[in-house]
Amino acid sequence: MSKRVYIFDTTLRDGEQVPGCQLNTIEKIEIAKALEELGVDVIEAGFPISSPGDFNSVVEISKAVKEPTICALTRANTKDIDAAVQSLQYAKHKRIHTGIGASDMHIKYKFNSTREEILQRGVDAVKYAKKFVEDIEFYAEDAGRADIEYLAKMVEAVIAAGATVVNIPDTNGYCLPEQYGAKIKYLVDNVKNIDKAVISVHCHNDLGLATANAMAGLINGARQVECTINGIGERAGNTSLEEVAMIIKSHQSLGLETGINTKQLVPISRLVSTSMNMMVQANKAVVGKNAFAHSSGIHQDGVIKFRENYEIINPEDVGAGSSTIVLTARSGRAALSYRLENIGYKLNKESLEMAYKRFLEMADTKKQLEDEDLKVLMKSIEILK
Ligand code: KIV
Ligand code: ZN
Repeated sequence: MSKRVYIFDTTLRDGEQVPGCQLNTIEKIEIAKALEELGVDVIEAGFPISSPGDFNSVVEISKAVKEPTICALTRANTKDIDAAVQSLQYAKHKRIHTGIGASDMHIKYKFNSTREEILQRGVDAVKYAKKFVEDIEFYAEDAGRADIEYLAKMVEAVIAAGATVVNIPDTNGYCLPEQYGAKIKYLVDNVKNIDKAVISVHCHNDLGLATANAMAGLINGARQVECTINGIGERAGNTSLEEVAMIIKSHQSLGLETGINTKQLVPISRLVSTSMNMMVQANKAVVGKNAFAHSSGIHQDGVIKFRENYEIINPEDVGAGSSTIVLTARSGRAALSYRLENIGYKLNKESLEMAYKRFLEMADTKKQLEDEDLKVLMKSIEILK
């Protein structure tokens, strides 16, 4: 099986479904260009039938971006597919992403239909889209909760109808990693024509398992992962692109690789956060403000001696600059001495002791001490001397 994992970015579609974070076309083009620079393989640019603005964004992104495949989402009907075909007219590489619910819950309570009818609608949608576009991805919505034998039947039928990629979404973020991985393995082992398509994983984060589930899928044979910058998306979000890229890079023993230029991860995270006016949580893996900040005395001492004592990722590899030693009331002498040296004060043992005592007094009244505070501190101990 090939090592290469295709990165399908859906920041501009599933990600943009976050309430209050809608982007205009200019902002979307800027992000799409940054995604191209990042090295993603597919950009899901929108859901063209949903609004004239979304349709127009797919058109303009198709003109502006030439390397990645541009993908447009549809439901399983001809009207949606016609709009997607039109919106993709300028795309150099194009893909239509069509699909329908696969769980009994969706079949009964969303479509008021039957398994047979829904499978036929999926097949018809793929056949119709295939008349216009060669690259067709099919999503079996709510696959995470679908009956596995029915799901396998559906996947086999849509591949026979022309699907080149089969997306197995855990739409509600329900699965455990073992369950999701087993689902992918079942499809690899039991769908006769599975070698004619790439299996894609699309996981939501309702239980905080989106990245773990996506990884379980890849380990079991999927070769495309659908993800977003900063893990944004419906409800609790989607699998986070930066996490998947760095897991694959950090764990070479998995035998997987992506085309991601990891040095762009922090810059694009900031761009998406600013454009959407959506803060990234400080402790977010890889791109959070604190991802490379050390504040407790024990850790600081270890990092100052040898960075890898407490860092498994080199911050430069993700475009985060260097590690930071944050000064708080939990910091030790090693950290204080290190930060003072950075601003030009080299203290002997006795002066450091005096400075540390004063430092703790200041740190108890302030959450974090900055360089300016350290200068004040040094002045105050000069006076005391
Ligand atoms: O979560 C989901 O099932 C989706 C599909 C539309 C692919 O976003
Ligand atoms: Zn989704």
